[in-house]
Amino acid sequence: MNAKVDNATLQARKNAATPRGVGVMCDFYAARAENTELWDVEGRRFIDFAAGIAVCNTGHRHPKIVEAIRAQLDCFTHTAYQIVPYESYVSLAEKISARAPSRYPNKTAFFTTGAEAVENAVKIARAATGRPGVIAFSGGFHGRTLMGMALTGKVAPYKIGFGPFPSDVYHAPFPNALHGVSVEDSLRAIAQLFKADIEPARVAAIIFEPVQGEGGFNPAPATFVKGLR
Ligand SMILES: Cc1ncc(COP(=O)(O)O)c(C=O)c1O
Repeated sequence: MNAKVDNATLQARKNAATPRGVGVMCDFYAARAENTELWDVEGRRFIDFAAGIAVCNTGHRHPKIVEAIRAQLDCFTHTAYQIVPYESYVSLAEKISARAPSRYPNKTAFFTTGAEAVENAVKIARAATGRPGVIAFSGGFHGRTLMGMALTGKVAPYKIGFGPFPSDVYHAPFPNALHGVSVEDSLRAIAQLFKADIEPARVAAIIFEPVQGEGGFNPAPATFVKGLR
């Protein structure tokens, strides 16, 4: 660890060098991490409940993952799959396709971010159906790109000042017992959308999170998911 680097100095450099639009929650800087623990540049130890926003499912620096990355670096770093493909892309796609529940044979593509995956899902749904409409839900979070923001069902802090957004996106209330929205209320609102805003024949896709995060750690009830289908 570099003893000369402290959190306050880094914070001042960060504020001068990077825009505040990239919102940062903590004011201490990671130096290293191991499994569930993280140490900052001043040597303070934290239990990392954030885990990269719930994506470090194996903990920091799991030995198998470190070894796999090392082995890959010994072979090549980047070829751009669209230019020169490689086996690991195909085998991971095979594994995910085999696990995804579907009545039809699955295929898998990889994207860099969640927002990019959402954008591509909408592109695929529109191209496959020839329809424009997408129905999303209040409280939903779908990313920070323009379509991601259009689909996101929270104005503050995500959408203020960034419109206009792509059109043909409609929002229905997500079931939320805490806010007095029942499954029936939600399904009824979609039926109402079909009356007031868009006919079902123009809807390409309905997008929702099985468990909302930004909306308040709110699981979709099974009756809602069945009702949607
Ligand atoms: C449900 C959902 N969709 C989309 C996104 C956007 O992902 P990214 O920040 O990788 O673009 C997130 C990120 O938290 C998410 O939780």
